[in-house]
Amino acid sequence: MQLTMTVNGEEVTAEIEGRLLLVHFLRDHLALTGTHWGCDTSNCGACAVWLDGEPVKSCTVLTAMAAGHEVRTVEGLEQFGELDAIQRGFMECHGLQCGFCTPGMLMTARALLDLNPSPSEQEIREAISGQICRCTGYATIVRSVQWAAAEEAGARTSIIDAGTP
Ligand code: FES
Ligand code: FES
Repeated sequence: MQLTMTVNGEEVTAEIEGRLLLVHFLRDHLALTGTHWGCDTSNCGACAVWLDGEPVKSCTVLTAMAAGHEVRTVEGLEQFGELDAIQRGFMECHGLQCGFCTPGMLMTARALLDLNPSPSEQEIREAISGQICRCTGYATIVRSVQWAAAEEAGARTSIIDAGTP
């Protein structure tokens, strides 16, 4: 079947088999290998991407279901050559070790901050509860998300201050 979708802001048209999972379409057809495939049981969350702005496990979505919709992957987080605050947070606070879980963590955490710019530790832990990290441990991941939240709050404050006469 032929389908068209938007991936990281670009329109993509492809001929695929109806049973193809979105994770494999992204990795094998579009070479967007930042999205990882970590399990066969929908448990690890390494495959998380956004479908119309909502994080989904791309190993549970048929590519055909994304036809006509907007997909964003970890490759689409960086904007105009600048890393997103959540990416910088993971760098600053050592939120990764092997990095396998990181793309999914980043996509879920970015979605959380878009919805709730100042989440509590509990809210961060709940948001990433669908992701498994086997090596870093969650403390630095939570700290990384908190760093990004603080960074963005600081940026908002400077914009407001700059506008104050
Ligand atoms: S690959 Fe593990 S949840 Fe999708
Ligand atoms: S950084 Fe290795 S699994 Fe999370």
